[in-house]
Order: sequence, then C-alpha cells, then structure tokens
Amino acid sequence: MSDLIIQSQDIIERILTLELVRVTERAAVSAARLRGRGDEKAADQAAVDAMRRELNRLPIDGTIVIGEGERDEAPMLFIGEKVGTRTGPKVDIAVDPLEGTTLCAKDMPGSIAVMAMAQEGALLNAPDVYMDKIAIGPGYPKGVVDLDASPEENVRALAKAKGVKPGEITVLVLDRPRHQDIINACRRAGASIRLITDGDVAGVIFTAQPGETGVDMYIGTGGAPEGVLAAGALRCVGGQMQGRLILDTEAKRERSLKMGIKDPKKKYDMMELASGDVIVCATGVTDGALLKGVKFGPEIIQTETLIYRSVTGTVRRIAAEHREMGKFRLD
Ligand code: FBP
Repeated sequence: MSDLIIQSQDIIERILTLELVRVTERAAVSAARLRGRGDEKAADQAAVDAMRRELNRLPIDGTIVIGEGERDEAPMLFIGEKVGTRTGPKVDIAVDPLEGTTLCAKDMPGSIAVMAMAQEGALLNAPDVYMDKIAIGPGYPKGVVDLDASPEENVRALAKAKGVKPGEITVLVLDRPRHQDIINACRRAGASIRLITDGDVAGVIFTAQPGETGVDMYIGTGGAPEGVLAAGALRCVGGQMQGRLILDTEAKRERSLKMGIKDPKKKYDMMELASGDVIVCATGVTDGALLKGVKFGPEIIQTETLIYRSVTGTVRRIAAEHREMGKFRLD
C-alpha cells in the first residue's frame, strides 16, 4: 500500500482515532433529536455546536481547512477556525457535522455526522464550493476512469476493466437537474443509474464494495467538503477518485487563491484531496445503508460509527450504548 511510505513523524497518534468517535457520536445524537422536524438549520446547528464542543476537548492543535458554510448559509464550523486544546499535534480537520441536512429534517435514510483529521497540510484547504467528482472502488488499473473523459467512455472503460458488459455497470448520481446530461450519457452507454437525493460522502464510499452495494461508480457534482471526506475514507478501503473545484466566479477564485489554490482548474486525485495519515469518522443520524441511525430508548441511546484510518487500512464499526445518568447529558 502506497501509504506505507509515509514518514513516521507524519503518523497521527493512534489514540486520537478513537477520540474522534465521541465527536461524531455527539454531533449525531444532537442532530437526531431534531429528526423529522422539518428544520434543516436547527438540526445542522445542533450538530455543529456538539461537534465544536467535542473537538475543543481533544488534545490537538487543529484547524478546520474545509467545512460547511457559505454555500447554503449553514451554521458553520468555519474554515480557518482553530479547534482543540491547542496542546497536541497540529492537524487539519474537514467537517460535515450533518451530511444530509434535508434527510435529517425529513427523517429520511442516510444522514450522518462526519469528519476527517490528518496532519497539518494533508487535507485540501478550499472554500465551501461545489466539486466535480468521479470515484470507483478498488481492484482496477490506475486511471481506468477519468474526470475529463465522457460518462460513456468511463462506463465502457470500467465495464471492460471489470470484465462485464456496460449493462452490468451501475453509476450512482445525485438526483439533480444539473446531472441530467450525465444520467442520459451513462444510460446511452448501457449503464443503469441509481439516484440518491442527498449524501454523496456515502455515495462515493459505496463504490468500494460493489458486491454489497451494487454501485460501481460515482459521478457528479457535489460539495467540496464532502469530496475531501469521501476521498479520505476511500483511501482507506481502496479505490480511485478525482475531484475538481468549481470556481466559477471571481470571488470564489480569489478566496481559493488566498487558501493557496493557484490553478483554479486543477484536477485533484484522491491523494491530493486527502494525503498522509487520514482518519475519517462517521456516525449515523438516520438509518441508512452505510450506518444505523441514532436510537433513543427509555434509558439507553444507541449509536453506530465507522472509523477509517488510511495508514493502516483499518475500518472499525463501533456500536455504542450511552446512558445519561444524573446530570450527564450526551449533548
Ligand atoms: P448538506 O448536508 O449540506 O445538505 O449536503 C447534502 C448533499 O447532498 C451532499 O451530500 C452533496 O455533496 C451536496 O448536498 C450537493 O449539493 P446540492 O444539494 O446543493 O446539490
């Protein structure tokens, strides 16, 4: 695995891996209390507040390098915000405290609380803009699909590499009018399309296990933070991904230049989106194919969390029971 060439000083203290579980668990529980209330902003705010509070308890000197914010005026853990006790290692953090705000507000499947952490400089530092993305799972020759190839070419190339007919390829796409051309092109090539209403972090991760999910490829435009988070997870389980920021206004280009992005049209590969020792942690808010949602019992709150660590390729699925005793509340 190429990650083995990472220098030992670049490896994040592994104790921090499990610390992240608390962060996304709390964000998920806070958001889940507002499931189905039709109030996206309130659910997002609850997740942001809980995530910020827990991040600030971690022994890290952290900086949010990419996160939710201006694109949909979400209450943000803003880009550039410092988090942690400021005593530990310098780390980059990518956040999406509530990925799938609409899914949570409507109590639909698939909303998660998710974040990633890596050493300073390892995660793409970019504004909260859209990103064009393509992703496939492990086991294919490098470069078999490409963001700059047409959807038809990508479907055919992937089918050939998989040793199947294009008709046996399934492409997952966010259900948006802007994706109609991609959908038509993939179908013309013979592929079937699975549409999701939201949640392309999980959408990308699904490509890593086509046998279970039935998804071979993700194509489309979604949030840039979601792109970095998905790249971090895919690095761990294997696969290929490319992304290109959509910097279609002068203001966006200026903001990204200030963050160090000199080429606004750059095509990033998975390692450039999330390099080094990346840890990605996600807890289910509503039930979904990736994770179970939070369950509130009379005495116990149950959560399910996945933690990916790229340097070891370890994926942990943690089912937790939380008891709110005395004055102790989870959020
Ligand atoms: P939110 O959590 O911000 O609602 O994002 C949900 C999501 O579906 C992402 O998974 C995806 O990357 C993005 O929205 C797509 O943006 P848009 O909804 O504006 O098309």
